[in-house]
Formats: sequence, C-alpha cells, structure tokens
Amino acid sequence: MQRFHHANRLHALPEQFFAKLVKDVNHYIQAGKDVINLGQGNPDQPTPDHIIASLQTAATNPGFHKYSPFRGYSFLKEAIATFYKREYNVTLDPETEVAVLFGGKVGLVEIAQCFLNQGDIALVPDPGYPDYWSGIAISGARMEMMPLLAENKFLPDYEQIPANIRKQAKLMFLNYPNNPTAGVATAPFFADTVKLAQENEICVVHDFAYGAIGFDGQKPISFLQTPGAKETGIEIYTMSKTYNMAGWRVGFALGNPSVIEAIELLQDHFYVSLFGAIQQAAATALLESQECVHQLVKTYEQRRNTFITGLQKIGWDVQAPKGSFFCWLPVPNRYTSTSFASELLDRAHIAVAPGIGFGKAGDNYVRVGLLTDEARLQEAVNRLNQLDLFD
Ligand SMILES: Cc1ncc(COP(=O)(O)O)c(C=O)c1O
Repeated sequence: MQRFHHANRLHALPEQFFAKLVKDVNHYIQAGKDVINLGQGNPDQPTPDHIIASLQTAATNPGFHKYSPFRGYSFLKEAIATFYKREYNVTLDPETEVAVLFGGKVGLVEIAQCFLNQGDIALVPDPGYPDYWSGIAISGARMEMMPLLAENKFLPDYEQIPANIRKQAKLMFLNYPNNPTAGVATAPFFADTVKLAQENEICVVHDFAYGAIGFDGQKPISFLQTPGAKETGIEIYTMSKTYNMAGWRVGFALGNPSVIEAIELLQDHFYVSLFGAIQQAAATALLESQECVHQLVKTYEQRRNTFITGLQKIGWDVQAPKGSFFCWLPVPNRYTSTSFASELLDRAHIAVAPGIGFGKAGDNYVRVGLLTDEARLQEAVNRLNQLDLFD
C-alpha cells in the first residue's frame, strides 16, 4: 500500500499525551478490573429532555434539511446575545460580535490560524488545556508559557513575562474557571489583563468552557464584563459543559468584531454551519429555563464536597475547587505526576490525569474529574485510604 507523506504542519502537532492514559486504562478494564475512571473530562449526564425534544421537532422541519447559512442562523446568534445580556449583563451585537463554532475546541485552534504567522509568539498558561498548543503548532508560531502556581491562586503573574516577550506576543490564551487547576478569575485580574493587552496589542482569548460551574454561591465572571475587554479580545463559550451537550458540538466566539470577522472568514472556507435543528435546540437551551444548569452545578458541588472531605479525612492535604468540575490534587513529594497516577491505577484501579500532560508546571499534581456519582467517588476515597499514601 502506498504510504503518503504527511505535510510538515502535521509533524508539528504536539503528541497526544492522554492517548496513552486511555490505552493503559483500557488494558486494566480488559483484564477485568473495576476501574474508577476519574481521568477524563467528558460530562457523564444526559442532555436535558427539553433540549432533546427541541432537536426532535426541529429535525422534521424541511427548511433545516438544506444547507444552513454559512455563518449560522441569526436566531442562534440572537439567542447567545440574549443569554450574555441575561447572565452577565454584557451587550453583544449578534451580527458582528458573535460567531458560531463547531464546539469551543475548533475555535481555539482556528484563532491561532487567524492571527499567528510563522515565528510569532503566543502566551499560554502552564498547566493548560492542550488544544491551545495544537493551533499554535499548526500556525508555526512559538509558545511562551505563563506558569499557574498555587501561591498565585493559579493566575499568571504578568510581571514575570519579560518585556520583550510581552511586546512580541500576538495572542494570549486564558481559561477560568480553569482546566486543570480549577482556579477562578477575579475582576482585578481581568482588569490587569485588559491593561497588559492594550499596552502590548495582544489579542486575549478567554476560554470560558466552565463558565457555568461555580461553587459556594459564586458565579464565575465573564472576561467580557471587564471594561475594555471587547477592545482587546474575545471569549469562547461552549454548550458542552453548561448543558451536557459535548457530543452536539456547539460553541461560540464572542467579542471584538475584527476577531469575529477573521474567524467567520476562515470558517467560510472550511464549513457550512451546523445542522439547523442543532442550532434550534441550542437556542432553546440558551433561552428557556436554566433550572437544569442550577441542578447540574448542585450535583457537581455535592460530588466535590463528598470527594474533597473524604480525601481530607484520609490525610491528603487538598483544597476544595471553587469552579469547573475538576480537582487539582498535589502528589506526595516522592512521586512525579506520572509515577503517582501509575501507582493509583496499578494498586487501586483509579485512573487520574497526570498533571505533566497539561504542561511542565503541572508535574506536582494529578487532575480528577468529578464525573461519576458520589457513591463511586466515595469508593475511590476508600480505595485510596487502603494504600496508606498520606501521613
Ligand atoms: C478548557 C477547555 N476548553 C475548551 C474545551 C472544548 O470544549 P468543546 O470543544 O466541547 O466546546 C474543553 C473541553 O474539555 C476544555 O476543557
């Protein structure tokens, strides 16, 4: 069989670190082990019924069987603008400040193609969501890492970025509530971000994937609530986590019109927009009762309480996350994140994500997803207790 050579841009793509983890977990499952998989970020609950019903009805509409408008239906862009006004008191022009995406992941990779040339610099959080690296690699640009440290509440310290790097940087990725650290942003931090971006003409891309998930009565803030934010960048929102719609592939880019126009232009050449019935169901999710979202956040909060209290009781010195559905847990000194994750899988059949997979600064941590029920999380705590790992 002829083997065709891949283009250089494919060789530039970063290694998929977590593919190996999935393989290891499957190996234990195939061997008949009862693995508690806390390593992934896939929401475990179904999409709410009223959203599915909306899709079912819309699927019978012949108007939706044709090509959708290239840039998406206006009713969906209007729905996201209404959602942002209602949830964050942010005003968006649906035509010029909203782009419909095939999920947030696609937008994060596209934005690098829109603004980075070969050799340009993008600022990236470390640890961070690996898809930022993918888009930057395809564009031939270079990453400068911004460490997210516990002592800074997992916010980057802009003072630590050398002046010449700040000046050269074209894009900056941020993500709060944060995957993997579960850190949350503050209004002063976002104000500093706008200042840095304005002084250095950096385009800020705030990934708000976990925007709906805040605990202890604290609603996560949108970057676009910050004065001046729309002049300096965009936010990327997704339906995946807020409405358990990860398989539906609906996301949005919101904010600076010149950035939105660049994304729309690129997408004109790659896609026709999403199936109209999916767009209709997404609008239903955004506009109708948000009770399902409140229930979801409550569920994650109860899981967090069970899990974190359980870990603290067995002597693991961990902090309760304030947002996202992740726990970012420090590994005992004698381990790396990989050796600790291997030990948990091997001895307790618990899968966690080693922090190194999110960047060098993650190597003292493992990430746990609260994506299984409380009984299973309690079982994980019980198994960990048997290992006698903590003093
Ligand atoms: C931080 C972060 N950003 C973006 C995404 C992408 O979400 P989607 O492509 O499903 O919209 C995820 C998904 O796990 C994520 O964790």
